[in-house]
Amino acid sequence: MARAKTTTRWVCQQCSYTSPAYLGRCPGCESWHTMVETVEERRPATGSSSATVRGGRPQQHAQRLDSVGSAAIDRIPVPISELDRVLGGGLVPGSLVLVGGDPGIGKSTLVLQTAAALAEAGAGPVLYVSAEESAQQIRLRADRLGVSHPDLWVLSETDLDRVLREADERQPGLLIVDSIQTVYLEDMSSAAGSVSQVRECTARLMQWAKPRGIPVLIIGHVTKEGTIAGPRVLEHMVDAVLYLEGERHQQYRILRGVKNRFGSTDEVGVFEMADVGMREVTNPSEAFLEGRAAQATGSAVAITIEGTRPILVEMQALTTATAFGLPRRSANGLDTNRLQLLVAVLQKRVGISLGGQDIYANVVGGLRVVEPAADLAVALAVASSYRDVAIAPGTAVVGEIGLSGELRSVSQLDRRINEARRLGFTTVIASGAESGTRTTDGIRIIRTSTLSAALDAALGEG
Ligand SMILES: Nc1ncnc2c1ncn2[C@@H]1O[C@H](COP(=O)(O)OP(=O)(O)O)[C@@H](O)[C@H]1O
Ligand SMILES: [Mg+2]
Ligand SMILES: [Zn+2]
Repeated sequence: MARAKTTTRWVCQQCSYTSPAYLGRCPGCESWHTMVETVEERRPATGSSSATVRGGRPQQHAQRLDSVGSAAIDRIPVPISELDRVLGGGLVPGSLVLVGGDPGIGKSTLVLQTAAALAEAGAGPVLYVSAEESAQQIRLRADRLGVSHPDLWVLSETDLDRVLREADERQPGLLIVDSIQTVYLEDMSSAAGSVSQVRECTARLMQWAKPRGIPVLIIGHVTKEGTIAGPRVLEHMVDAVLYLEGERHQQYRILRGVKNRFGSTDEVGVFEMADVGMREVTNPSEAFLEGRAAQATGSAVAITIEGTRPILVEMQALTTATAFGLPRRSANGLDTNRLQLLVAVLQKRVGISLGGQDIYANVVGGLRVVEPAADLAVALAVASSYRDVAIAPGTAVVGEIGLSGELRSVSQLDRRINEARRLGFTTVIASGAESGTRTTDGIRIIRTSTLSAALDAALGEG
């Protein structure tokens, strides 16, 4: 079973200059630290038993598109529905899925639960490979999570070739590699976690997975700029990229698809980090609004849409007179630049003098809100705090704010309103070209086309 030793070379990521050895400075383009170790294309070993995948495929011929079968891909359903949703409805055989996130956010917990759930569902043996923890540590975690199944296999190994040999013996229905930054290929001189290793390991996993039709979940730590390569260098190689987000000390975790060759990328899954692991939150609006004071200043409820789901979240803002120097603008869960823009619009278009105010804004629960439709809630929360007037209870708001203080219409307004109604809200303030108030099915809908009119509706004439 001897495999010809692989040769590697160093390739500049800027100009493709190639060298047999590492060079700190590229002779081609004179950039520093751009040389990355790369495995040389191997010739398939002819006649050997290790008939490799690479180059071994028969010649493909072009086909007429209308003669290509469009039968749906046979996906492997994942019994954790919040994950299944983000995957686009199950795992695609032979696909590589990267699950990224900050250290300690819950990646290992989530994939171990997934492994157990798939074994339980009869997806065949599931092989969970940890290059970070021993088999005993994984067992302790499994005990803590209360998961166990005879078809759940664990392997503590860092040498990727050994991992794949074991996987070939086990023929799993799913392979999990935790993490891509701690496995390595022995053939390469670069250290585990380097751009070179991370990329070549991923390429090796892909060559392994595709012809066997076995899905592979790869865990990747998001790293601060540094010596360890982050998941970003892999995004273009894998089939799907999911990021687990959240504030470490808050209970909610959001699983967001940022790339998916087999589904949409704007779905999110919502989880709650509990003692027994990641618990699915199938009713995120209720969860995010839990514990909210009905009559608090500096608070507004936004009706956002994540993927196909409307989610209501509370925006909080706090304004205080700046003690010295430049006023602070700090945002948690939303873009600081967006907050600054909204503050500028409030100052210039509505005449609220926020120039001498420190402003803090926060999305409660740890969700990151990127949708501009949440603008109105942010602006109203800031204005509410500044004027020290609470928004009437039972009010939810939605609208994108333009630079001249106009409210721009948002997509899927009816679905947003329905979610607000379901949660017992009685008033929705929404952007709309035609202003007016109507009441349908017990909910009052106030449409306005300007921020100042929305402020009047929410906080009264100020
Ligand atoms: N033995 C344990 N007991 C209690 N909580 C734990 C234990 N191990 C991990 N956790 C909690 O689970 C969180 C997620 O851990 P983990 O899934 O290992 O994260 P990741 O794999 O993303 O680094 C940790 O931040 C910690 O709060
Ligand atoms: Mg981990
Ligand atoms: Zn170069």
